[in-house]
Amino acid sequence: MTQDVYPVPQELCDCTLCTDEQYIEQYARSIHDPDGYWGEIAGTFEWFKQPTKIKNTSFHKDDFGIKWFEDGELNITVNCLDRHLKQGRGNKIAYIFEPDSPRYPSGSVTFRELHDRTCQLANALRQLGIQKGDRVAIYMPMIVDAAVSMLACARIGAIHTVIFGGFSAQSIADRVQDAQVKLIITADEGHRGGKHVPLKANVDQALKLPGTNSVETVLVVRNTHAAVNMQMPRDRWFDEVTRNQPVECEPERMNAEDPLFILYTSGSTGKPKGVLHTTGGYMVYAAHTHRMVFDLRDDDVFWCTADIGWITGHSYIVYGPLCNAATTVLFEGIPTYPDVRRTWQIIDRHRVTILYTAPTAIRSLMREGDENVKLSERTSIRLLGSVGEPINPEAWRWYYEVAGDSRSPIVDTWWQTETGGIMISPLPGATALKPGSATRPFFGIKPELVDAEGKTLSGATEGNLVITDSWPGQMRTIYGDPQRFFDTYFSTYPGTYFTGDGARRDEDDYWWITGRVDDVINVSGHRIGTAEVESALVAHPHVAEAAVVGFPHELKGQGLYAYVTLNAEVAESDDLRTELVKLVRTTIGPIATLDVIHWAPGLPKTRSGKIMRRILRKIAEGELGALGDTSTLADPSVVDHLVSTRSAD
Ligand code: PRX
Repeated sequence: MTQDVYPVPQELCDCTLCTDEQYIEQYARSIHDPDGYWGEIAGTFEWFKQPTKIKNTSFHKDDFGIKWFEDGELNITVNCLDRHLKQGRGNKIAYIFEPDSPRYPSGSVTFRELHDRTCQLANALRQLGIQKGDRVAIYMPMIVDAAVSMLACARIGAIHTVIFGGFSAQSIADRVQDAQVKLIITADEGHRGGKHVPLKANVDQALKLPGTNSVETVLVVRNTHAAVNMQMPRDRWFDEVTRNQPVECEPERMNAEDPLFILYTSGSTGKPKGVLHTTGGYMVYAAHTHRMVFDLRDDDVFWCTADIGWITGHSYIVYGPLCNAATTVLFEGIPTYPDVRRTWQIIDRHRVTILYTAPTAIRSLMREGDENVKLSERTSIRLLGSVGEPINPEAWRWYYEVAGDSRSPIVDTWWQTETGGIMISPLPGATALKPGSATRPFFGIKPELVDAEGKTLSGATEGNLVITDSWPGQMRTIYGDPQRFFDTYFSTYPGTYFTGDGARRDEDDYWWITGRVDDVINVSGHRIGTAEVESALVAHPHVAEAAVVGFPHELKGQGLYAYVTLNAEVAESDDLRTELVKLVRTTIGPIATLDVIHWAPGLPKTRSGKIMRRILRKIAEGELGALGDTSTLADPSVVDHLVSTRSAD
C-alpha cells in the first residue's frame, strides 16, 4: 500500500470547475436531493419538452424500476450538433482525424460538417426503411464515419449496436441475432497498425451463419478502396446512398426513456449480454461526467484512445465530448505503429491537452523506456486519465512523472459498460491523488462495501463493491431479457446494484478497486467471460472439458489461463495447443488470446460436480501453498496432478 499523496496543484485550485469545498457541498446535495441536483444539470441541455419528473427508481424486487427524466422529450444529436451551430460554434472543430499511418495527412471535421454528414446519412437510413426502434449494427474502423453512423441512428431514433472491429464473424452473428439487426454499416476494410482488417468480408461471413436473416441492408464505406464482394441488392455503397441527401434532417422526438443504444459486454455466464442505455439519462450523465472529471475548457483538445466499439468510446469520444462542444482526436491506429513514439508525436502534432488512456497502454509504453517519450515536448498536456483496469502504482508514477512531466494530475476513472459514465474518480481541481486509487465517488454515486453475506461494512476495509442508489447513466435492461438484468445485478445483494468488482476503502474514505470478483477476466481493459472462452474450447471435437481463469500478467493486467481436459485417447501436443488458441481467437476475436493451456486429465470438482475455480485460480497464479481446503473435492488427487504439472506447462 502506498502512502503517497499528490495535492491539487495550486494553479488548478484557482481555475477549476470544482474545488474541494464545492465537491463536498455538491456531493452532499446530489445524494440528499437528487431531483434538485440532476434537474438543474438536465436544465442545461436542450429538450423538446423539459422533464418535470426527475428520478423514479427502485432497486427492490417489489417495485423495481429505473426511470430518469421520464416525461422529458429530446434528441441527443440536437444536443451534440444543432445546439452548437445555433450558438455560433459551427466552425469549431469536432474531430481531428489522425490516420493509422503518419504518412497520410490528418484531417478535421467541424461541428457544421458533422451535422451535415449526420443528417445526410440519417435521411438515407430513413429512405432504406429504418425507423425509430429498429436496430442498426455498426462494424467500423476508427474513422469519422463511425461517429457519423452512431449519430445518424440517434437522429432518427434507431438503436445502434456498435460491434468492435476486432470481433470475429461469429461474434457479429451472435449480436445480429440477439438484437435482430435490420441494417449493418461497415467499411470495405480498416487500417490498423499497418495491416488491413477485412471488415466487409467478416460481415459477409457472419451473414452466412444461422439466425442472421433479419439483416436487409449492408452499407459499405469506401475506406481503403480494396475490392470487396458486393451482393446486390443487399449491399449498398455508403457514399452513393448519402451523396444526394439534404443536409438537414428532422430529428426524431424521443422520450427520455427511449433506447439509444445496445452494447454487448461479457458477463460471468452465457453469451455476451446486450446492455441497453436510454436517451435522456445517458446523455446527461455522459456529458456531465466528461465536463467535470476532465475539468473541461473551451480550448481543450481531448484525446481518448479507446475504440468506439467500447463504452469508453461511446461516452468519451462521441456523446460526452460532442454534447460539450469539445474538440476530440479520433485516432484510427494503435499507439505503437509505426513505432513506440507515435502516441507522443500525436500529442505534439495536435497540441493535445487531455490524454485519456488505459493502464495496459501505459505499461507497454513504459516498457519501451523514457527516451522515446522525452523526444517529444508534451507541453500541451494538462491532464491525464486512466480507465479500464486497476492501474498499478508503478505505472501511475511513470505516467505522472515521465509522460506528464510531474505537471498534470491523473484522473483514475472507475466505471463500467453498465454505468454509462464515470462513477469513481478524482476531480482535478478538488481531489488530492493517491497512486492506484480511483479516489472519491462522482456526484450522485453512493458506493458501499458488503461482505459475502451482504452485510454492509463500515470504516477502512475491503469487500464487494455495490452502489446503493440509481444514477442517470445507469443501464436500463439487458436487451430482450429483463429477468436476467434483475438477476445479474440486483439479486446478489438485494436493494443494491452489484458491480462485480471488489474494492477497498481507506482511512480517508478513498476507494481502491481491486478487480473482478466474478468470472469475468479483464484482459488489457477488455472484459472476457470465462464461460464464452470455455464454450469456444469445448466446441473442439477433441476437448472434453475446459475451465478458464485469469492470472496476473505484466502487460495485460490479467491473462487467460485455460485448463483443458482432452477426450480419452487424444494425445496432448503442441499442434493441438496452437489449434485451440486459434479456435478461441476465431470464435471470439483476437482479444481472446489464451496465454496458457494447461492439460488437465481431471478438474477439481466438488462432490456435486461444481468446478472449484478458486483452486484453479491459485494454481494459475502460482500460489501453490495457498490452495486452501481441498478435502471437499470429489477427487483431491486431481489437484496434486495439476500442481505437479504446472511448471511443465
Ligand atoms: O473491473 C472493472 C474494470 O473494468 C470493468 C468494466 O469493464 P467495461 O464494462 O469493459 O468498461 C471498461 C471501461 C469503463 C470494471 O468492472 N475497471 C474499469 N475502470 C477501472 C477498472 N478497474 C480499476 N480501476 C479503474 N479505473
